[in-house]
Amino acid sequence: MIALMATVGCRQDMHDQPKFFPQRGTTLYADGRSVRPQSANTVARSQLHQDSYFYTGLVDGKEGDGLPFPVTEEVLKRGQERYNVYCTPCHSRVGNGEGMIVQRGYAKAGDFHTARLESAPLGHFFHVMTYGYGAMPEYAAQVSPVDRWAIAAYIRALQLSQKAQPADVPTGSHVEPLSTIAEQEGLPATFLQGWHVPATAVTGTPTGEPLALPAPGESAKTTSAQPAPRQPASNSGETPKQ
Ligand code: HEC
Repeated sequence: MIALMATVGCRQDMHDQPKFFPQRGTTLYADGRSVRPQSANTVARSQLHQDSYFYTGLVDGKEGDGLPFPVTEEVLKRGQERYNVYCTPCHSRVGNGEGMIVQRGYAKAGDFHTARLESAPLGHFFHVMTYGYGAMPEYAAQVSPVDRWAIAAYIRALQLSQKAQPADVPTGSHVEPLSTIAEQEGLPATFLQGWHVPATAVTGTPTGEPLALPAPGESAKTTSAQPAPRQPASNSGETPKQ
């Protein structure tokens, strides 16, 4: 009985499935190829990019302005979240282009609070994310088109955040100076000071303005482009904590 069960259990059906391996030939089709060529004049599901503004940010080859869908609080929140993930390492949370990677020596990233970028059409931000810009790599593979638009919308909010006046706040809302908030939160006195990219950072484009070097007395304060070498973990045999 056991021998019989063993023989039955040894059927090879699951191993010898009738299937084609990629790039392997077959005699089934006349052209000898197992993979079927794409049918002419067809578009794969979800790849019909009919709304070209949504996918390129361009209208007749020029950067368009405006969001291709209604802006809602949800869109802005999503934009903020994606921006903080993908853009802050270089552009910083406030978008001044002095993120941590730049402080460590990467090319100075764009500052969104210049007059040029404040008046740039929304499609420009989408286009930069989609195709890259100078020293900036493209983010089309990591960030979906709808998220790129959400980020573009959030950049507009960031731009306002750096220049907002109490009059921009809806009536009835509570307005408090940041210094008061900083004090209440027990933040260091230096919290509100601007920060500057160290001289070790390089300018983004060869044509860009060279960075101003810090005054001689200040140079000692600038951090080195190289992080301090890691100390080996203690010999206690513990896995170092991440
Ligand atoms: C790895 C660093 C890095 C990351 C991450 C990054 N950027 Fe940039 N970005 C740069 C650099 C560097 C420049 C300046 C490029 C130049 O001038 O050559 C730049 C420039 C820009 C500009 C200005 C273009 C102009 O017209 O001057 C915009 C807008 C921009 N980035 C948007 C974004 C957005 C949005 C994200 C997140 C999806 C992002 N960047 C992520 C490095 C980065």
